Formats: sequence, C-alpha cells, structure tokens
Amino acid sequence: MLELRYYGDPVLRKKAAPVEKFDDDLKEFVAQMIEAMGAEDGVGLAAPQIGVSLRLAVIDASGGESAPYVLINPEIVYSTAESEDYEEGCLSMPGISLKINRPAQLSVKAQNENGEFYTIENAAGLLSRALQHEIDHLNGILFIDHVSSVQRALLKGKLKKISEKNA
Ligand code: NI
Repeated sequence: MLELRYYGDPVLRKKAAPVEKFDDDLKEFVAQMIEAMGAEDGVGLAAPQIGVSLRLAVIDASGGESAPYVLINPEIVYSTAESEDYEEGCLSMPGISLKINRPAQLSVKAQNENGEFYTIENAAGLLSRALQHEIDHLNGILFIDHVSSVQRALLKGKLKKISEKNA
C-alpha cells in the first residue's frame, strides 16, 4: 500500500518532474494510485502526495460511477474568467476544509498511461475543482495557499498536528 505524505513533508512543496517513460512500471504505479485514492475515499490524488515527485494525478469526481481520469503531464489550456467558491479538502491535510475561489470552468490537456494525449473540455463543478487542486499539487502548491494569511494563521495549530503524522 502506498504511504500518504502529509503537510510539512518537503515533497509536497517541490515542482514535480514530467513523466517521460510510459512503461509497465508506470501502468502499475497508476493502478496503485487509483487503488489508494479509492481506499482513502478521495476525489483526487497526486503523485507527490505519496512521495513521488512526478507530474501524475488521478481523479474520480463521479463517486465510482465512471473510470477515473489518469492525468499525466497535465496542462490547463483554457479557463474561464468567471470564478466560484467551492469547498475543498486534501488527503494531505485531513480534517481541514476551506472555501476556495478559483475559475469556474477549464479545459485540460494531458496524457494517459499509454502516453496518448487527450483533452477534458470545459470541466465544471467538482471535476473542474479537482483538476485545479491536483495540478496545483504538481507545482508544489497547496489549497491553503489560496486563502488569506489571516485564515492560514488560524490553521497553524491544526497544520502542526498534521505534520506530526509524517513518519
Ligand atoms: Ni490535495
């Protein structure tokens, strides 16, 4: 089982490297990530959250209704000027949920585990939110970076407790 990294682990602050090798090891790793996301009841999981600094994330915004998205080397190719508030949480910061303001819709280009390019057009709602949150992880950005310093200061005690979960 893959081990989750929590707030305070330096890997969560690193800009992840592009995936270059689309081999069997990668497919196996993607399968493990999907399994870990399901086990944690997560909407998304980025590779840095399990200590692997690669540009790779999985998302299931359908509650298991459809196959999860495998996003390798994802890029936001379009986002709306219109933004919205949406409640976010993160497996690396259990117990914290915050309303975050981000673009309402966006389109993302990515590769799948076979290296094939595909585009998710005009994602909205939970999928849009999960895409932005997970792509942030690949750039070392956490959702708490999007709130005011005052709001963040109020989380200090909770974040300290969470960081102590890192083995
Ligand atoms: Ni997260």
